[in-house]
Amino acid sequence: MSPERVVSGMRPTGALHLGHYHGALKNWVRLQSEYPCHFFVADWHALTTHYDSPEVIEASVWEMVIDWLAAGIDPKQSVLFIQSRVPEHAELHLLLSMGTPLGWLERVPTYKDQQEKLADRDLATYGFLGYPLLQSADILMYRASWVPVGEDQVPHIELTREVARRFNHLYGREAGFEAKARESVKKLGGKGGKLYLELRTRFQEQGDEAAAQQGRELLAGAASLGQADRERLVGFLEGSSRRILSEPQALLTEASRLPGLDGQKMSKSYGNALAMRDDPASVTKKIRTMPTDPARVRRTDPGEPERCPVWQLHQVYSGEATREWAASGCRSAGIGCLECKQPVIDAVLSEQAVFHERAQPYLDDPALVRAIMADGCDKARALAQETMRDVREAMGLAYR
Ligand code: TRP
Ligand code: SF4
Repeated sequence: MSPERVVSGMRPTGALHLGHYHGALKNWVRLQSEYPCHFFVADWHALTTHYDSPEVIEASVWEMVIDWLAAGIDPKQSVLFIQSRVPEHAELHLLLSMGTPLGWLERVPTYKDQQEKLADRDLATYGFLGYPLLQSADILMYRASWVPVGEDQVPHIELTREVARRFNHLYGREAGFEAKARESVKKLGGKGGKLYLELRTRFQEQGDEAAAQQGRELLAGAASLGQADRERLVGFLEGSSRRILSEPQALLTEASRLPGLDGQKMSKSYGNALAMRDDPASVTKKIRTMPTDPARVRRTDPGEPERCPVWQLHQVYSGEATREWAASGCRSAGIGCLECKQPVIDAVLSEQAVFHERAQPYLDDPALVRAIMADGCDKARALAQETMRDVREAMGLAYR
């Protein structure tokens, strides 16, 4: 049975902060015990915006990977790799680019948004326009079912689906496809074959999605089918071409949005972030000096938690009882702000203590991290080479 694989990538931006942890990494850690996961460092993606300062990328790669490991990403469960070490991503990107309409890329919302946001850089480049397609290649390479991403990335997953569909449509029409598919149906046995054909008719004639889904499940569970038969029958179920690349779905993180120290989105460039592996003294100081409800000028002035960024941290870090204590103490001026902040400080420090502990062996011996990534790159590459064989063959590039 082909497993439902998860793929996600992160640009190397250096040391990660608690916003990355609560917004993405915590979710990755959970997913790795539910699915086979591939997590990679999107270093080429970093070049699409920072092509003029590539020297910062290397250090950022290792810092970020140590933060992944500190968060609990387990290289025994997940495949961790670096995009540029699997050059097949570039080949797939190139091949997909041939048939991708320019308009699809120009319409991706991040294209204009980022150009405006990063106005200090010249992003009128070929690489920047094409970066969502590079992302499509990253995903399609591993035939991923699920891609955990934030809201802003959903259009990229949509694009990826369209690109996969178009690829299958253009290149999935093998000669004699229907006859071959009918041969493959026989391998499902009498009963299975009959059910499959019924489900196919219901989907193709009435657009019955549930029937299509049932058909896909039937195929996934059919031990008598090889990979080629299964792909052909998935394609035959859905249309008239073989499915070479599979359409992924976004897996939206119900992000516990961890705000920065000023209540805005946490971001290194806003200077409001707490790094995952900040030292305890500086974390304590940063939280102690965080702004609070401006109405609480004196200790005796009552406050309103809804106007206070510390309260948002309580939402993430405190249990019901502590939140109740903080909210009522604030509104009655029963507690002071420093008192209110202490349980948050304690919770952040104990969360980070675990990160520090997990990171230490890798800081002591950087060769450990290099070895983990080398091993992950080998594993990723083996899968990538399988996909590329199919892609080249489908595009008529398998001659030698
Ligand atoms: N574009 C993503 C970002 O900026 C990173 C990324 C690159 C990615 N390739 C990916 C995410 C593939 C998911 C899957 O955050
Ligand atoms: Fe914020 Fe707590 Fe001070 Fe109220 S008591 S303003 S919630 S820090």
